[in-house]
Amino acid sequence: MAYDLSRRAFFGAGMAGLAGCASAGMTSLTAEAQGAFPPSPSTSGMFGPEEGLAQLSRNENPYGPAPSALKGISKAAEAGAYYTSMRSTAALQKLIAERHGLDPAQIVITTGSGEALSALALMNGPKGPILAPRLFWDTTALYAANLGLAEIQRVPLTSDMEIDLPTMEAKATSDIGMVQLCNPNNPTGLVLPGSVIRPAVERMAAKTTVVVDEAYIELADDPDATTCIPLVKAGHDVVVTRTFSKIYGMAGIRVGYTISSEETAEKIRATAMSWTPCTSFGGAIGCYNDEGFLKMSRGKIVEAREMVTSTLDTLGMEYLPSQTNFVYFKSGLPAEDLRARLAEKKIAIRGQYMDYTDLSRVSMGRIEDVERFCRALPEVVGA
Ligand SMILES: Cc1ncc(COP(=O)(O)O)c(C=O)c1O
Repeated sequence: MAYDLSRRAFFGAGMAGLAGCASAGMTSLTAEAQGAFPPSPSTSGMFGPEEGLAQLSRNENPYGPAPSALKGISKAAEAGAYYTSMRSTAALQKLIAERHGLDPAQIVITTGSGEALSALALMNGPKGPILAPRLFWDTTALYAANLGLAEIQRVPLTSDMEIDLPTMEAKATSDIGMVQLCNPNNPTGLVLPGSVIRPAVERMAAKTTVVVDEAYIELADDPDATTCIPLVKAGHDVVVTRTFSKIYGMAGIRVGYTISSEETAEKIRATAMSWTPCTSFGGAIGCYNDEGFLKMSRGKIVEAREMVTSTLDTLGMEYLPSQTNFVYFKSGLPAEDLRARLAEKKIAIRGQYMDYTDLSRVSMGRIEDVERFCRALPEVVGA
């Protein structure tokens, strides 16, 4: 059942175990150092998933790229002999700025939002620790940490797997290099409403830079009421990152962006490492305002999510109420066992995160692939 008292008690029990380990000085250093997102076993064909595989492990969206994006990619590819034009950068900045009532100079386009988040970790890590929830998309913070340029301070989640904002606020002093939050969070899928996250972020931003990773926000029930962009507009030290990899279904095309003050935008531009390909701009400009596609894309993801949660309900399995394209659930099997049993049926889901042994994450994919997961789940758990 989603997010009821029994779920709270259920997940609470799991976390109590972890808290017990921590208080006994037994927190697994391996889990912390490895992070939440170690590379998963390869399930790829040359391009996209291998033939016959239900690819439900990477939070991709197979309903993209939109035809409007493909048209732009193809047009840009024809001019692939030439470096990306500043005009295409300016055009995409303008589109994004117009939607949010910002100045185009406040937008930095990057090669996926991962590049932006890496740049932010490199910029701010040397100033002091990166303060983050224990479980979040930590790949870019670890990138800086592994280079010796950042230390990650992780704040345990609450007993119901929410980000513990009050504790984060208490720790967000001016000695912190940056605070990093992911809203909605990955892999929990939980969202902090704007009325909760915004005041906390505003207070933390008075002390240090706060980065809010909004990779999945277009899939939240009410993106406008959830986003921290109003804090950027109000002049707070906040950076919002977004991506074309999720609702736009362009994970392989690599386009992301930051929204910040102009001054911070300059620093991000100077720190980012790659030149985003012209094809990425062609795709992103082509589909940014393609409302028909966005409606279809979101509709398919929600349809798949409802199929998954209704299967979990039928099987009496508990899960967190997701506002993303993935669901974090407890099957009754260790996460690695469930992953392996489904892999035998050519269904790829994510394995264990850190030391959360009994929680599994399944991503939404093509409806027929999600159907395969829903049929296979009772078989592999022996229900
Ligand atoms: C929360 C979150 N942020 C950022 C990213 C990076 O996405 P990309 O670099 O494709 O924009 C991911 C990837 O899955 C993610 O889950």
